[in-house]
Amino acid sequence: MTFAFTHENLTKIAEILKKYPDDRKASAVLPLLDLAQRQNDGWLKPSAIAEVANLLGMAEMRVYEVASFYTMFNLKPVGKYHVQVCGTIPCALRGAEEIMEVCKDHLNISLGQTTADGTFTLSEVECLGACVNAPMLQINDDFFEDLTPESTKKLLEDLKSGKVPKCGSQAGRQCSKAASC
Ligand code: FES
Repeated sequence: MTFAFTHENLTKIAEILKKYPDDRKASAVLPLLDLAQRQNDGWLKPSAIAEVANLLGMAEMRVYEVASFYTMFNLKPVGKYHVQVCGTIPCALRGAEEIMEVCKDHLNISLGQTTADGTFTLSEVECLGACVNAPMLQINDDFFEDLTPESTKKLLEDLKSGKVPKCGSQAGRQCSKAASC
């Protein structure tokens, strides 16, 4: 399967590349991989990595090294909702294990799996920088923080029923909420 950026994304790439000297184009590898992933239903197939390498004049392996380092990049297909539970110490001390168990039970999948209907993928990630509102998880671009087993279950139920859950602190805290919510 080949991959080609859309015309719209090629325009965005031209703007991104203006930020870097010609001999430093490789510095744009992260935003280009992000664009490729968003265009390809949330994951990077090998031909997308090859196309980014081609546009930036990099060896494919160098681009693959970047894509495989960050958990924000997916090297295999993910569900419509990619549930990423933070398992690092501040979240672990505040109950991340229990949050993960609720996700496994409620979605009926194990870590790294996708539900049969392709709706949810479950992953564990390292600290996402929202420790102040631990425990937390990320779903696609949104953070859900101050979780309890009950609020986690409700969050998943809302998504299953087509509702758009409110991101940020699920305990209603305002002063420490994520900027995007
Ligand atoms: S440890 Fe979970 S967000 Fe930092």
